[in-house]
Amino acid sequence: MSEYIVEMRHITKRFPGIVANDDISLSIRKGEVYALLGENGAGKSTLMSMLFGMYEPDRGEILVNGKPVVFHSSTDAAAHSIGMVHQHFTLVDNYTIAENIVLGIVPMKKKFGFLPWTDMKKANREIAELSAKYGLEVNPSDLIQDVQVSVRQRVEILKMLYRKAEIMIFDEPTAVLTPQEIDYLLKIIDGLRRDGKTIILITHKIEEIKRIADRCAILRDGRLVAVRDVSGLSVQEMADLMVGRQVSFTREKTQPRFTDDILTVEHLSVKNEHNFEVVKDVSFRIRGGEIFAVAGVSGNGQTEIADAVAGLVKISSGKIDLDGKDITQSSVRERARAGISYIPEDRQQTGLVLDFFLRDNLALRKYSREPFSGKGILKHDQFLKYAQELIDRYDIRCAEGPDTIVRSMSGGNQQKAIIGREIEEHGKLIIFVQPTRGLDIGAIENIHRQILEERERGAAILLISLELDEIMKLADTIGIIYRGELLKTAPAKELTSHDVGRYMMGVKEI
Ligand SMILES: Nc1ncnc2c1ncn2[C@@H]1O[C@H](COP(=O)(O)OP(=O)(O)O)[C@@H](O)[C@H]1O
Ligand SMILES: [Mg+2]
Repeated sequence: MSEYIVEMRHITKRFPGIVANDDISLSIRKGEVYALLGENGAGKSTLMSMLFGMYEPDRGEILVNGKPVVFHSSTDAAAHSIGMVHQHFTLVDNYTIAENIVLGIVPMKKKFGFLPWTDMKKANREIAELSAKYGLEVNPSDLIQDVQVSVRQRVEILKMLYRKAEIMIFDEPTAVLTPQEIDYLLKIIDGLRRDGKTIILITHKIEEIKRIADRCAILRDGRLVAVRDVSGLSVQEMADLMVGRQVSFTREKTQPRFTDDILTVEHLSVKNEHNFEVVKDVSFRIRGGEIFAVAGVSGNGQTEIADAVAGLVKISSGKIDLDGKDITQSSVRERARAGISYIPEDRQQTGLVLDFFLRDNLALRKYSREPFSGKGILKHDQFLKYAQELIDRYDIRCAEGPDTIVRSMSGGNQQKAIIGREIEEHGKLIIFVQPTRGLDIGAIENIHRQILEERERGAAILLISLELDEIMKLADTIGIIYRGELLKTAPAKELTSHDVGRYMMGVKEI
C-alpha cells in the first residue's frame, strides 16, 4: 500500500490563452482534511476537476492507492471512490431528495413514465442510516426545489456517501452558507474524517482552513507555491503565500461622522413578475457618511431594494426621498443626475458596453460634459488621459490600456472598471450590489478602501452583499432582510456575525 491515497504528479492543464495548472504535484494521505487555498482563478477547481474525471490533464499522471489511473469521465472517478460537491450543485429540482441521491449524476430519463426500477424502500433505509450516522438531516421525500441551499448541500454529501465515496472533494462549500451553517458543515466534515474519509477542501477562506484542515496546499497563478501543516502556519502567512506579497488586513474604519439623511425609504413594496411581493413594507434611512448594509441569504429581496432605489424596477407602494426631494416617480436618468451612482450585480447586463473600448466605457457617464466634449466635439485625448488615471487608481488590468476592448477583460477587471467609473461621479448616494463578488483578495482590499473613502467624503452608501465578512467589516448600520422584510435594523457594533446569521435564517428575536 502506498502511503498516499491520491497522488497527482506533474499535472499541467492549459486552456486557450492560459496555463490553468502548471506542473503541479500533490500527495494526499488517507483520512486527512487537505485544503487547497488560492485566490480566484488560481487553478483550484481545474485541478480537482481532473481528479474527478471532468477534464483530462495535458501532462502528468494521477495515482489512486498507489496505482496509476486515467479517468475519462466522473463515472470513472466515482468507480475509484472519488466524489465531488461542486460550487454549483448538480441536483434535479423537481425530483425528491431520495431520488436525487439514488439516481445518477446525469439525470435519467423516465421510461414509460416511470423512473428506472430501483428498490426505493431499501434506498430510503440506506439514506436514513447515512443521514443518522453523519448528522446530515434531510427529509428524503422533500422536493429539491422546496429546500434551502444548506439542505441541498447535505443532499450532495449524501449522494457521495451513497456511492461509497472515500475521497471527497468540496469546492468552496461555505461560499453559500451562513455562519451557523458553516459551523454545522465543518462538524460534518470532521465526522467524515473521524470515519476515515479523505477530504479535499477547496476554499479561499483562511479561517476555515485554520479550523478544520490538517494540511494546506497553496496555489497561485496555476502553480503550487507551498504545502504546509496547518498547525504551524499563521493566518498572516497563509494570506501572504496566497497573494504573493504582504497583505494588510487592517484598514481601520474611522469614527463615523454622520450628516443629514440622504436617502429615506418609507414603506417600500415591490412585486415581481408573478405578482409576488418580494419587498414588503421596507423602511430605512441612510445619512451622509454612513454605510447601510443589507444582509440576507440570496434571493430575499435585497437586490430588488437596490433596483427600486435606482429606479430600475417599478414599485407597488412606498416613497423614496433623495436629499429631501421626492424621487419616487423619477426616471433612472433623473436619479443618476440627482446624484445616485449604481454598481449593479450583473456587470455585463447593465454595467458595460462590452464591444466598446475601455476608455469609452470609463467616460460613459461624463462624455457629454466638459472636458470630454466641447462645442459638440468629443475630445479623444481627454478620454485617453482620464482612462489612464482610472486604470492606475483602480488597478484595472487590461492588455492594451485605454484601447482594450472590454469584452476581452476578465470579469474581475470589468468590475473594477465599473466601480471606478461610478465612484468617480462622487455621488450623494452610491449603491453597491455585491461589489467584490469573484474578485481576489488584493482587488477586494482596494475596493473596500475606495468604499471607505467615499464614506469619509460624506456619501451615503447602500451596500448589498452576501458576504457577511464584508458587511461586518464595512457597515455602520445593518438591516437584515428575510423574505422581503427587514427583520432587524441596528448599528453594526451592536451585532455579532452570529446574530446577523440568525436573523438571516428568519429568527425574529434573539
Ligand atoms: N473550461 C475553461 N475554459 C477556459 N478557461 C478556463 C476554464 N476553466 C477554468 N479556466 C481558466 O483557468 C483558470 C483557473 O480557473 P479555476 O480552476 O476555475 O480557478 P479557481 O477554482 O482557483 O478559482 C482561470 O483563469 C479560468 O478563467
Ligand atoms: Mg473554483
